[in-house]
Amino acid sequence: MANINNKNLKLAIQKQGRLTDETLDFLRKSGLEFESYSQRLFSSCRNFPLEILYVRDNDIPNYVASGTVDLGILGQNVLNEKKPKVKKLLNLEYGFCSLIVAVPKESEIKDIKTLRNKTIATSYPKSTKKFFNDNNIPVKVVSISGSVEITPALGISQAIVDLVSTGSTLALNDLEILTKVYDSEAVLIANKDALRNGKKDLLEKLTTRFKGVLSAKDYKYIMMNVPEAVLPKIKQIIPGLKSPTVSPLAKEGWFSVQTVIKEDTFWETIEKLKQVRVSGIIVLPIEKMII
Ligand code: PRP
Repeated sequence: MANINNKNLKLAIQKQGRLTDETLDFLRKSGLEFESYSQRLFSSCRNFPLEILYVRDNDIPNYVASGTVDLGILGQNVLNEKKPKVKKLLNLEYGFCSLIVAVPKESEIKDIKTLRNKTIATSYPKSTKKFFNDNNIPVKVVSISGSVEITPALGISQAIVDLVSTGSTLALNDLEILTKVYDSEAVLIANKDALRNGKKDLLEKLTTRFKGVLSAKDYKYIMMNVPEAVLPKIKQIIPGLKSPTVSPLAKEGWFSVQTVIKEDTFWETIEKLKQVRVSGIIVLPIEKMII
């Protein structure tokens, strides 16, 4: 059996669960090359001094806090619930879900105040107690490790606090959302000492790669051919990161304009370009962007 190289950075990720596939995808988009299959306990990257360890997501906070591993990728929900002494480095913009309060559809309970003195089942007891304390609603919290959605039907609880992403599990169990406790997504956390010791440089190199993938997601690369008279207006509409690349075409008086635009202003920018009669716009995704 191959051994873990302790000089390398160690990153713990969820072995099997909601974040696993997207985490592997994110690591590969960051240019890391490694083997992964479900029986594997860890993988060594071929092109970066990194060991990836596959563990249960609930164990990741402890592994990172104790320094067993340097880094972890897990849901913000686990951080909120366990409050480990770790440093959060990045939001990774995938694995979006929410912790919510839900009740059976036919229940008379239609707002959280009516839950006073009722029993709530959850795998998130700390988040649940905090939420109801903050709202000054006394409730009884029952900790359940899984299949929380079944507990109202079993008569164990009148409401649940659980994660929801697509909402299909709630719908299947005839439950409806009363309110949201908090939103969650995948995050990168680090051991506090790893940020100071000999692995600091490696850690910075890795987070630069991660940030490059995240920035690229926020931008699109666009190209268009425009007549010279329109160029000044185009430069105002799409300033680019510094300024757009403008190069002359073989056809006299025409130019090719290339630049990046932010995803969140994408359609607004396209509308403005159409108003100045630009057509034939080509839009491309960006794989990585180092700003
Ligand atoms: C969560 C949650 C629900 C399900 C909701 O479980 O407990 O069962 O996801 O997702 P949906 O809204 O897309 O149907 P998770 O997959 O995190 O596994 P767990 O049971 O180990 O908590």
